[in-house]
Amino acid sequence: MASSPPKLRTVITANERLLNLKRTFEEKYGEAPLLYAYAPGRVNLIGEHIDYCGYSVLPMAIEQNILAAVSHNNSGTISLSNTNPQYKDFSVSCSEDIFIDRENPKWYYYFLCGVKGIQEKFGIAQLAGMSCVVDGTIPPSSGLSSSSALVCCAGLVTMEANQKSLSKVELAEICAKSERYIGTEGGGMDQSISFLAENGTAKLIEFQPLRATDVRLPDGAVFVISNCCREMNKAASSHYNIRVVECRIATKMLAKARGLDPSGLLKLAQVQTELKASLEEMLALVDEVLHPEAYSREEICKALGISAEQFSAELLSANTQHLTSFKLHQRAKHVYSEAARVLRFKSVCESAGADSIRTLGDLMSESHASCRDLYECSCPELDQLVDICLKSGAVGSRLTGAGWGGCAVSMVPSEKAESFLLAVRESYFLPDPRRAAMENQSLFVSKPGGGAAILLEE
Ligand code: GLA
Repeated sequence: MASSPPKLRTVITANERLLNLKRTFEEKYGEAPLLYAYAPGRVNLIGEHIDYCGYSVLPMAIEQNILAAVSHNNSGTISLSNTNPQYKDFSVSCSEDIFIDRENPKWYYYFLCGVKGIQEKFGIAQLAGMSCVVDGTIPPSSGLSSSSALVCCAGLVTMEANQKSLSKVELAEICAKSERYIGTEGGGMDQSISFLAENGTAKLIEFQPLRATDVRLPDGAVFVISNCCREMNKAASSHYNIRVVECRIATKMLAKARGLDPSGLLKLAQVQTELKASLEEMLALVDEVLHPEAYSREEICKALGISAEQFSAELLSANTQHLTSFKLHQRAKHVYSEAARVLRFKSVCESAGADSIRTLGDLMSESHASCRDLYECSCPELDQLVDICLKSGAVGSRLTGAGWGGCAVSMVPSEKAESFLLAVRESYFLPDPRRAAMENQSLFVSKPGGGAAILLEE
């Protein structure tokens, strides 16, 4: 059963981090903040690169988050500052159109995505002025969704500053849509879990309509996040959008082969719905219709009966116009098999049988193999790390998030957690001085945390 979304406001007792942020805010703006808001990062346990294909995913929020201190005013300006001096101050006039530079994804553009989402939702001609200091504890470019947390936090404080009211589901949908201004065609998982997460439970996130259902993780195991220390900024490369485009083309090719009108179909899940087929049947269809060799533009245009111009305008995104070959069989195979693994993961969690932990671990490892071999979104460092995690006592391990760098998530029997951490530290982090220097932020146990909220001081 889908649970009702948790509350958007939480009363808290100020902790050290909040007091430090308050002090920074006061030094910067000469006044106290009016409110605080936070939005968490996430770790995806299973269901990678399938949200934008219309399939459910299974993430949980992590404890690391974006925390913002904010005041509203009539200055006619939005002023942004970050406690990390690496991220420079920025301000923009409320009467200017919000411009987001895709070529140059600076930290504050993510904030502006959230602001723009709220502005458009309500058609606000003149936004309220805001002063804001942001403090982040999610390691950036690590696949733990620091950018979406920033978009979500910005959406939340902009809603508040402009005296509007939205549900968490609406906020998640707005922020998922508005983050696309940065140029990546994300699927909505990150923003959804950032808003809809609840303490103590992972969530099955379903789309259209968006809803989140509790998934109780089995007792007797912990989830450990480890960063391979290769950074991946998905907005600064085209890897991510290339996969979105390949899935879109595969959708149309499968639809056309089965006599459906491909023009309205954009996601692999839509073909399954139209054909009323099971995921197993979809996997068989992929083998029957698509060949494993890469497709050229010409072959796709011919099969779909479209011109080269239509192909570029309707199927490719701005940063994928250069592509000449497309792997469709492998990508579709990954998506349909991963969608099945998510459903199986959820049902194994529900059954809580004697073998649950082993089965869940196997599903995670199968997911990694599919990401590595079929979806090609891993990298040598991640593969090495996943290998080390399995040798160090994990029952399952996989890359998490977009991939091509960033983190792995491992399921480890609780009694082995300590020896696991020591072994991974010794085999992966200590031998390399750069990794060793990052270790304290790069290897930790994570429990399902709560979702984004406005914080009111007690
Ligand atoms: C990024 C995107 C998500 C999702 C994952 C891969 O985090 O923002 O929407 O597609 O990659 O599963």
